[in-house]
Amino acid sequence: MPVRFNSRISSIPGYTPGVPKGKSATEVASSNLAQLASNESPFPPLPEVVAAVADAAASMNRYPDPMATDLREVLAQRDGVDPSEVLVANGSCEVLLGAAETLLEPGTSVVYSWPAFSMYPILAPLSGSDEIRVPLADGDVHDLDAMLGAITEATRLVLVCNPNNPTATYRDADSIARFVEAVPEDVTVILDEAYIDFDTGDDPAASIELFRRHPNVVILRTFSKAHSLAGFRVGYAICSPAFRAAIEAVRQPFSVNALAQVAALESMRHADVIGERIATVVAERERIQSALGELGLECTDSKTNFSWVSLGEGGAGEEERVVSELAGAGIVVRPGGLLGGPGHLRISYGTPEENDRMIQALEASLRD
Ligand SMILES: Cc1ncc(COP(=O)(O)O)c(C=O)c1O
Repeated sequence: MPVRFNSRISSIPGYTPGVPKGKSATEVASSNLAQLASNESPFPPLPEVVAAVADAAASMNRYPDPMATDLREVLAQRDGVDPSEVLVANGSCEVLLGAAETLLEPGTSVVYSWPAFSMYPILAPLSGSDEIRVPLADGDVHDLDAMLGAITEATRLVLVCNPNNPTATYRDADSIARFVEAVPEDVTVILDEAYIDFDTGDDPAASIELFRRHPNVVILRTFSKAHSLAGFRVGYAICSPAFRAAIEAVRQPFSVNALAQVAALESMRHADVIGERIATVVAERERIQSALGELGLECTDSKTNFSWVSLGEGGAGEEERVVSELAGAGIVVRPGGLLGGPGHLRISYGTPEENDRMIQALEASLRD
């Protein structure tokens, strides 16, 4: 007789990584495939980061600092909050899972917009709570009024993915502030800002101001995107000390490994170079969005490091063919159907050379 798992396990949808079928992430990384499916940075970690991590490797007989003290202090200073309001995590995903574990239970609900980040559908089945998915409004943006309307007495958690993955759209800081002001203060609002660094037109400090006025706000950020550290798994939350203590209570000790802490700290010392890299990505964004437009494809107004591309009428039937023709040309992109948006492609920005190859391959595929 097979072992029996708890009843929640069979309803958890799981997370599908953005690598082609039958290939491992390591195979993709060592091949010359253009990996444009996971919204990563195309640039390797800074050489100073690689050197600092290599140095630190010699002391890996020791456990890491469980409180990530140095990194929390540097983040707190930069963001103008107290270190007790910074939670460093094993990727920002760890905070999402911890939020499910500490806020949700049977009889409660989580509200989020859909399509959004593909981790969100895991949270309700994981915790035995209900989920309320609110469809995006016209323009593939969060429908904040409808989200407010979906909050009930049972709601404990609201997730706002801003900018949104996979649609690349953004609700401005004033709209988010009005939304947060209307949410009951015993409901936690996670503002998932994984892409906030990619020039949204607002100052990223605006949400921190909002947190100061509303301690039920949790701001989620990551080193996986702009800092090129996805493989290290390090993210953080700006949150109340109470939220931080709750997450600390349920996660394993030492969850953020020592090399990840060293890498993030060193990367923060080079904010100027990271800023130049972001500027390159944003310049590529302008170039790619207009090239896609010239191919007759509609995209949302991207505020991220990827484009959300509509394949037009009948696109859902075309999606698989286009994705596999691109894969045949060495370009890996995400089919929208897997992300809740059939008839779309989500294309992360690579190096300028990879982006050129992507545009050429897409043009050839559309011509067929
Ligand atoms: C919106 C959003 N939030 C969070 C994450 C996860 O980030 P991390 O690598 O820090 O776990 C991602 C990763 O793609 C994302 O798109």
